[in-house]
Amino acid sequence: MKIQLLPLQAHGDDRGSLIALEEEKNIPFTIKRVYYLFDTGQGVRRGFHAHKSLKQVAIAVRGSCRFLLDDGREKIDLRLDHPQQGLLIESFVWREMYDFSPDCVLMVLADSLYDESDYVRDYPTFLQMVEA
Ligand code: TYD
Repeated sequence: MKIQLLPLQAHGDDRGSLIALEEEKNIPFTIKRVYYLFDTGQGVRRGFHAHKSLKQVAIAVRGSCRFLLDDGREKIDLRLDHPQQGLLIESFVWREMYDFSPDCVLMVLADSLYDESDYVRDYPTFLQMVEA
């Protein structure tokens, strides 16, 4: 599975750093929704779904967490731990997020509004769909 970590350029000076996210520029889609996870409890594992069409970019704007990504053939485990890394998650990728640091703020940009019918929340169903 090809993992795309988007490099997000920071504008830094002696005051600090700033990163701008722009649709169809450093974010490779039209941004329709932004959400963020924070105050995630220790030992919590979440996600456990894939999307039929949604594309997302996840950024640990503070702290760190781990992702398990699975396209039905291969599983990849990686750590997001820097606000200059954007993890592109294509459709039909099963994802689980875990090992959140207590300060982790995980921001996610999405190319569609929230739509429960786009979710595949059952792993055997996901495998059937990617094999079909
Ligand atoms: P959930 O899908 O359980 O999150 P995760 O995949 O990280 O475990 O979402 C938690 C709740 O938030 C659930 O009630 C659905 C709601 N939600 C929205 O209303 N809008 C959104 O954009 C998202 C991602 C979730």
